[in-house]
Amino acid sequence: MEKLSQATAILIVEDDKASRLGLFEFVKLEGYSVFEADTVSAALNILNSNNIDIIITDLKLPDGTGLDLLRSINEGMVQRAEVVITTGFSSVKSAVEAIKLGAYDYITKPINLDELSLIIKRIISNKRLIDEINILKTRLDERFNFGNLITSSKKMIDIVNTAVAVADKNSTVLIEGESGTGKEMLANIIVNNSHRKSKPFIKVNCAALSESILESELFGHEKGAYTGADSLYKGRFEIADGGTIFLDEIGEIPLRTQSKILRVLQEKEFERVGGNKTIRVDIRIIAASQDIEKKVEKGEFRQDLYYRLNVVNLKLIPLRERKEDIPLLIKKFLEDFSKENGKNIKGLNKNALDILLKYDFPGNVRELKNAIEFMTAISDSEILDEYMLPNYLKERYPGHKFNENAGDFLDNTSTESYIKIPFGLTLEEAENLIIQKTLEKNSYNKLKTAKDLNIGLKTIYRKLNDVS
Ligand SMILES: Nc1ncnc2c1ncn2[C@@H]1O[C@H](COP(=O)(O)OP(=O)(O)OP(=O)(O)O)[C@@H](O)[C@H]1O
Ligand SMILES: [Mg+2]
Repeated sequence: MEKLSQATAILIVEDDKASRLGLFEFVKLEGYSVFEADTVSAALNILNSNNIDIIITDLKLPDGTGLDLLRSINEGMVQRAEVVITTGFSSVKSAVEAIKLGAYDYITKPINLDELSLIIKRIISNKRLIDEINILKTRLDERFNFGNLITSSKKMIDIVNTAVAVADKNSTVLIEGESGTGKEMLANIIVNNSHRKSKPFIKVNCAALSESILESELFGHEKGAYTGADSLYKGRFEIADGGTIFLDEIGEIPLRTQSKILRVLQEKEFERVGGNKTIRVDIRIIAASQDIEKKVEKGEFRQDLYYRLNVVNLKLIPLRERKEDIPLLIKKFLEDFSKENGKNIKGLNKNALDILLKYDFPGNVRELKNAIEFMTAISDSEILDEYMLPNYLKERYPGHKFNENAGDFLDNTSTESYIKIPFGLTLEEAENLIIQKTLEKNSYNKLKTAKDLNIGLKTIYRKLNDVS
């Protein structure tokens, strides 16, 4: 940190000599290297021949405006630098314009030096974070396939490193973490870094399969095992032979089936439903769960099976405990969804980012991803603002004044929000709408949604067509 702040170069662009010198002295005292210019053209000269990290520029200059500097940066005429605009109260509107053009922030005159100092520090720590993650990503990418996993959290990096270290072993892995923390993503990384990579990788969402078909799905059944079983059916364990099986939401498996899974883990063998021929398989098991320990405590999950699964334990961190990842993930998702939608969205404004940084994301990365997808879909401007956040997020921050969003089903006029169901929907469509809106309200927490609607978790999965 210290080393970086000393290396940080700041350019001050201000035509008023007294103000310029004041800023110059202050920035120098803070320990940065400083350059100064009194016109746009002098500033461009300096930018062309020096590595400048931050530009603090007045809006009105004798030969142009601070916006000209921003445009030169945007057009790639000069190297990238973060721009902070200084402005009188009368021209705050142009300052807002500057933010839309990509300025980092603006500060009104007379300049509060503490505020300026904070802005500079924030820019430096953001930059450091992005540099670090870039270095980390290239370093890791060279050795391992990390897929698209983005993180700068030390704890998460440790977890991913452990995952990669055990990837090529056959040991069973238990991945724990709240909904949307990246459990499936991590399972993919493990498989992609193992010698089983080109072998079958079978994913089973145990919560999505009803008890009656679960055993058939897992172990298969013989012809005539029960009414309707008119041919032999190979189960997922059998299909996964030689490769890997991912038992997602394993905590949802009923006790009766748990003992059979224990046997697969210990002996690598089982019988198809209705059969007595023992089938042996060579498989690697990766299991995932949100709250398996609680289930063990409550006696809903066999302790011996838990121990058997828990050979390597990878516990993913909720997003609210690694908020430093939020800006990085936003950047990644904006890039992805912009590309997908043929748009050129560059970032979020400060208010939108502030709201997202304050929010605790019960639905974790998936929830953030959904929010960014939604915002990218509805907006055409280069910088997304807080008005474009999904309604349920806006509602959490009544301090902000938001436009009524015409045509949206969530009505904000009453204190208790309700779902508006337009005429013309079929019963099934209305039902889907209710599930969708309740999910949104509950930040995509499926368990809570199931409880609110008084239906089973499995029904939610079925309706979402999320059976995998
Ligand atoms: N660190 C990350 N970097 C980039 N994308 C991520 C990251 N973590 C999660 N995602 C994305 O968020 C979404 C949710 O991740 P994933 O499905 O792996 O979570 P999960 O823990 O399995 O969730 P659930 O418990 O709801 O099944 C996916 O679209 C995934 O690509
Ligand atoms: Mg999952």
